Amino acid sequence: MRVPHLALGLFAGAPFAVAVPTQSSTLVARDGASVNDCPGYEASNVVNSDAGLTADLTLAGDVCNAYGDDLQDLKLVVEYQTKDRLHVKIYDKDEQVYQIQEELVQRPPHNKTPSSDADLEFKLVEKPFSFTVTRKENGEILFDTSGSQLVFESQYLRVRTSLPKNPNIYGLGEHSDTFRLPNVNYRRTLWNAESPFIPRNSNLYGSHPVYFDHRGSKGTHGVFLLNANGMAVILNVTDSGEQYLEYNTIGGIVDLYFLAGKQPAEVSKQYADTVGYSAMYPYWTFGFHQCKYGYWDVNMVAEVVGNYSTAGIPLEVMWTDIDYMDLRQDFTTDPERFPMNKMRELVSTLHSRGQRYVLILDPGVHLKEGYSTYEKGHEMGVFLKNRDGSDYLGIQWAGTVAWPDWLAPNTSKWWADEIVTAFNADSGIDLDGIWVDMNEASNFCGNVDCNPMNPGGNPPAPKFDPRPNTGRPIPGFPESFQPNKRSLDARQGDKYKGLPNRDLLVARYDPVNHVGDLSSSTIWTNTTNYDGTVQYDTHNLHGHSMSRVTYDAMLARRPGLRPMVLTRSTFAGTGRKATHWFGDNYSAWDDYRISIQQMLAWVPMHQMPMVGSDVCGFNGNADEYMCARWAMMAAFQPFYRNHAEFSSVPQEFYQWKLTTAAAKKAIDTRYKLIDYAYTALYYQTAKGTPMINPVFFLYPEDANTFGIQTQWFYGDALLISPVTTDYSDAVTFYLPKDTFYDYWTGERVQGQGANVTRTGVSYTDIPVHIRGGTIVPQRNKSANTTTELRKQDFVFLIAPDANGKATGRLYLDEGEKLRQDKVTELTITYNNGQISVAGPAKYPGLKGESIRLKSFKVLGQEGLQQGDLGEGSTLDPETGAVTVEGSWSLNEEFETHI
Ligand code: NOJ
Repeated sequence: MRVPHLALGLFAGAPFAVAVPTQSSTLVARDGASVNDCPGYEASNVVNSDAGLTADLTLAGDVCNAYGDDLQDLKLVVEYQTKDRLHVKIYDKDEQVYQIQEELVQRPPHNKTPSSDADLEFKLVEKPFSFTVTRKENGEILFDTSGSQLVFESQYLRVRTSLPKNPNIYGLGEHSDTFRLPNVNYRRTLWNAESPFIPRNSNLYGSHPVYFDHRGSKGTHGVFLLNANGMAVILNVTDSGEQYLEYNTIGGIVDLYFLAGKQPAEVSKQYADTVGYSAMYPYWTFGFHQCKYGYWDVNMVAEVVGNYSTAGIPLEVMWTDIDYMDLRQDFTTDPERFPMNKMRELVSTLHSRGQRYVLILDPGVHLKEGYSTYEKGHEMGVFLKNRDGSDYLGIQWAGTVAWPDWLAPNTSKWWADEIVTAFNADSGIDLDGIWVDMNEASNFCGNVDCNPMNPGGNPPAPKFDPRPNTGRPIPGFPESFQPNKRSLDARQGDKYKGLPNRDLLVARYDPVNHVGDLSSSTIWTNTTNYDGTVQYDTHNLHGHSMSRVTYDAMLARRPGLRPMVLTRSTFAGTGRKATHWFGDNYSAWDDYRISIQQMLAWVPMHQMPMVGSDVCGFNGNADEYMCARWAMMAAFQPFYRNHAEFSSVPQEFYQWKLTTAAAKKAIDTRYKLIDYAYTALYYQTAKGTPMINPVFFLYPEDANTFGIQTQWFYGDALLISPVTTDYSDAVTFYLPKDTFYDYWTGERVQGQGANVTRTGVSYTDIPVHIRGGTIVPQRNKSANTTTELRKQDFVFLIAPDANGKATGRLYLDEGEKLRQDKVTELTITYNNGQISVAGPAKYPGLKGESIRLKSFKVLGQEGLQQGDLGEGSTLDPETGAVTVEGSWSLNEEFETHI
């Protein structure tokens, strides 16, 4: 067992063992046997059908047992599921190997499409077994496993595909690596882990085994491996110069989905078809959010809200971290610092001002006599158990904790009951959203020397028992805390589901977890779930499962309203129920830049649109200049929350003059654009088209765009190019060969397919360009809250392309209900002076809200004279913009002209 090198660190004010990553060889197998000597498989009994094939696979020689025991007999199933999706599944004949529970992830239906209609083609080579996937249209080979043998062992799985030279590969989150992934000596470990300071080149909180492969004019495709086991995905070049991508997992099966594209955004949609579409978020979630770990009491929370008003900076959502809890226990409030009556007063005051409130919850539940959340949970059998049926214990903020077993039958009900009771409107805290944290799960008792009953932890607890939680009696606790024999029966003793005879603590193949061993700082991987599966297999699904259950609980608490659940740990498909922030970054320019790279992967490639970083950084101290830039830049990212660590200097936007000025301008602009962004989010949730577009998504044939990671399209019209150099007023950004307009001045800027350098970009400024051919619906004026914002009239900003044409869309609904019965979905078209607004316009507007268009502004009309224009139209000769004033109802279709 590789023991992590433990260094003591202080994480977020709590004792925490930080492991120094160790390098391990990923290719040397047991007893010196090389995985490259493995015999591979041979296909037989191939049965072809119109929509796919099935075959048996048999080990083609002597076992190599590189990292486990080779499996003799496998099955292959190939399905052309839709025109653009091909499914290839290889699993063990006896079906003992772990496959993700049906209820945990959405699988696309096993549709069948005649292979003749499919965009992709699967070709099988029987001996030695290999396969290729080809894009039919141009014969491009997208996946080819012939370069190395398939290895399918009890604790190791390897599939390798060759790739073209210098491939453009993206995705494989969660990480802090470049947006376009390195392709030499690159390893992406996927093993959800506590990740203070967002380490580089390592696994982080979530696992998304999906990549996009962009090949310019030859098309973009996606490959998704539905496998939740720990893995390392390697991108590298062989000694003979061949580029490859290789999956190395410590279990699970080969469950590959090939997504044909061929436009990049089509792959995003096809991925949504595969793992599920993102949840739609309430309109208010686009407002500005403030949080800090360390708001000491309810008065301090109120004071921060007040300070925002005094500074004239709109604040939509106030958050409270674990500070509010009594002894850090979920569903409690500190009686002195956050007494319930004052909490209720705080929330009702916020609500009366049109503001919202969100609270944090952690999965670790304090083991304490008289703490009803634990006692009820224990009684209901909701906690993860040791083999002997006792609750599995570890250490989290509250001290000794048990963790919910999200697969146990009573857990959802118990969790929902706790939420509904603690957060009810009549006697509890009437919150608007929930933040679930530490759900990798993070365990401060993460190494063999730790005694979960002694949460002192730092310096390390004395050696007690090398295996914590062996079911020994818990001294000083009543009977209800002692090992629960009923649960033991349910778990059938030592038997577990999944392939038997595995070492559930150690995988001989080491995917290289930055925290150390697989079990380091988390729930031990030999822990059994209620359904008999083990954490070894399901670890990466803990945060995902918690998100699902919390979503349902929020729905029970606020029936009919869209739940806002923010989760730290995720898996492929979590977006259906929750969204994510990028975790514990640092108040540093590097982290400011990394937040852009991360957003570019999360929104289009993991189908989790409502994401963002801790604005101004979590750890360390922010400063006025960096925080001003971050306030500005993040206003054009979907989720916009300032959050900091306990010991960081206060970094609310009002703390510094320059940051205040930047934030005011940023929020003013963001709010005017909320309907535009909300529309983009809606279409991502309904059609899968991303609300954030990497530059190459819109210019897929322009190779200069493939590596861009400091610019992005907010929606599909606004190109954001922030200053990304430390303390600089200069930015060099790329403008594709196309018509653009400066968002701030309205002036036409012809993109040359070249870099442009701009100097003198003040801290309250950010270059934004509108892409020609688009129409951006905006509110005429910003407001203090999104409720007030909805009272403002609309203005449409029209940016014609070189042919004088543009289109845009506007989606309107009531903003918060899960099911909307009357919605407006307008298509706005501009064609050389003529404007038309069409589409179902059914959203009537709530009392006081505006659904009127006040004016439209057409950019780039330099050739016109005032005399050429109709009544109500004014030409600005400086910029060439024509403004048409009027008043149109967006409840009707209409046509007009300039
Ligand atoms: C870790 C989270 O990542 C961070 O955002 C939070 O402030 C702390 N836990 C305390 O709850």
